Amino acid sequence: MSNRIHTLSGYFHEYQKSVTEPEKFWARIADSFHWKKRWDKVLEWDFESPDIKWFVNAKLNITENILERHLYTIGDRPAIIWEPNDPSEEGRTITYRELYHEVCRFSNALKSKGIGKGDKVIIYMPMIPEAAVAMLACARIGAIHSVVFAGFSSTALSDRVNDCGAKAILTSDGNFRGNKKIPVKEVVDTALENCTVETVIVVKRTGQEIDMLDGRDYWWHEVIEGHEDNNVAEEMDSEDMLFILYTSGSTGKPKGVVHTIGGYMIYTKYTFENVFQYSQGDVFWCTADIGWVTGHSYIVYGPLLAGGTTVMYEGVPTYPDAGRFWAVIDKYRVNQFYTAPTAIRALQAFGTEPIQQYKLESLKVLGSVGEPINEEAWHWYHTHIGKSKCPIVDTWWQTETGGIMISPLAGITPTKPAYATLPLPGIQLFVMDADGNKLVGNSVEGNLCIGFPWPGMIRTTYGDHDRCKQTYFSTYKGMYFTGDGVKRDHDGYYRILGRVDDVINVSGHRFGTAEVENAINEHPLVLESAVVGYPHEVKGQGIYAYVICDMTNRTEANLTNEIKESVTKIIGPIAKPDKIQIVSGLPKTRSGKIMRRILRKVAEGNLDNMGDTSTLLDPEVVEEIIKGRK
Ligand code: PRX
Repeated sequence: MSNRIHTLSGYFHEYQKSVTEPEKFWARIADSFHWKKRWDKVLEWDFESPDIKWFVNAKLNITENILERHLYTIGDRPAIIWEPNDPSEEGRTITYRELYHEVCRFSNALKSKGIGKGDKVIIYMPMIPEAAVAMLACARIGAIHSVVFAGFSSTALSDRVNDCGAKAILTSDGNFRGNKKIPVKEVVDTALENCTVETVIVVKRTGQEIDMLDGRDYWWHEVIEGHEDNNVAEEMDSEDMLFILYTSGSTGKPKGVVHTIGGYMIYTKYTFENVFQYSQGDVFWCTADIGWVTGHSYIVYGPLLAGGTTVMYEGVPTYPDAGRFWAVIDKYRVNQFYTAPTAIRALQAFGTEPIQQYKLESLKVLGSVGEPINEEAWHWYHTHIGKSKCPIVDTWWQTETGGIMISPLAGITPTKPAYATLPLPGIQLFVMDADGNKLVGNSVEGNLCIGFPWPGMIRTTYGDHDRCKQTYFSTYKGMYFTGDGVKRDHDGYYRILGRVDDVINVSGHRFGTAEVENAINEHPLVLESAVVGYPHEVKGQGIYAYVICDMTNRTEANLTNEIKESVTKIIGPIAKPDKIQIVSGLPKTRSGKIMRRILRKVAEGNLDNMGDTSTLLDPEVVEEIIKGRK
């Protein structure tokens, strides 16, 4: 049964119902899923604690809603179409029936290694079908997966293993990315010098030489041998954890965002079908990596819960050339294409020549996610990729929200470039001023909050519930605070203005300024650093680091490189600062607080008005910083 909205008046009608009778609304959606036992109550909530429960005491297994549910109806339909990095290598199409058997077989193998309900399993894998099989196999036996983006460093990996107390790591020997062969198992081995797991299972992908530790490391193809390709899915509670996904905040180390089974399940399917207007038989392609929430919700769970066909691409947008995305769209006749503004801007830089030889006629819907899309990129996407006939859905959401929150419904909601437009049913938005007042009416700007629970929302931050409370539920009483600034225009349409906290969004990836500073400070010659974001043509935001360091026997060039290496080692290459300025001091208030406002202005090149600098301890520092600007 589909809960798809078909008209604009239908949207307003559903939205109204979702606000006036939210429990009835979501119960109706949940009724279209398979539950082993129905709920006693739809919702229990308190934003103070916070304590949120959807479908109280209901029992289910999410994989039954993906596998068994589709086995006898659409068993032969492609569930996953996998496109390898190298276009001359043959891809793979996995039907729902094959997926059922692969997931069952691998979940049996996991059980034989002593992994079961409640155990944490880290997935550190490239974009290969086994990554999706691994996620579903965990869910099938009640293990909690935590996917770590395979571009993160060994330090980032071991931090996550330790934080969640993982029992196993699922990985690969290596990773093909463009013309590079990247070691993956080697990174796992280095990580395991600082953490312990009982089991490591390795997919053979590149065939490169790797070390295997006896009694701990097993090949995927060997470990599945002899196991049955069916089983009965574990009975789980609706509020049991489905996964932990680490994401950066404005303070401290990345935190483990926890999502639970029942609510996440219905929210990802509902939003997938409605936002993209997905029809049975369509081919959907989301270019994200499964290491991010977009990959979780819109490569794996949303499309597969909907019985859809999801494309998974191993490589990068520009390999072997800048026409690769368009080639893949034509090859599989992709109907809905979902990517990030940073990818659009990077491809836009190659002009329209790489698009010319492709028809792109299968496309019906284009999607954007991860960061604000600038109007120029929006128009380019609309004109050259969508041939002016495909609606663009600019989808705003977060790791914490589980699924899309503000977005047009494709072809239904009139769009406006750079606007995420209207909230989805069930999402009660508030624009707040700095003093905690609700800004009512249209043409207002403030901080974006959500005043009522939705099924896909964060339940806690793993191992530190107080952090969840402090980060999201304390700034505005009784509200979930998103960390984003927003404008509600004269039409009541929402435009996301970007983060209002110390989070930088680089190519759609989140980093906390403190997290990058800590990595820079690991360099033995660095005394202090301050990091800010600045507008970057392709990445949206770039990372600008001001660093005080001991320059004895060092040139600026080699220090800068070493600092970049330090960040690569501690976080990963994606967090490398774009610009590093060596300074002798940082602008600080008398109480010792760094005035980031000034640093941001210098990084942006906005030098005319530095604002009030009278409270600075040493105003001359500002002059020096301006002179040495990169
Ligand atoms: O600032 C918003 C931005 O990305 C942040 C969430 O990042 P993450 O948890 O990594 O999830 C990214 C994918 C869902 C938000 O707080 N953001 C995400 N989508 C948009 C956006 N900013 C503007 N427009 C969007 N469509």
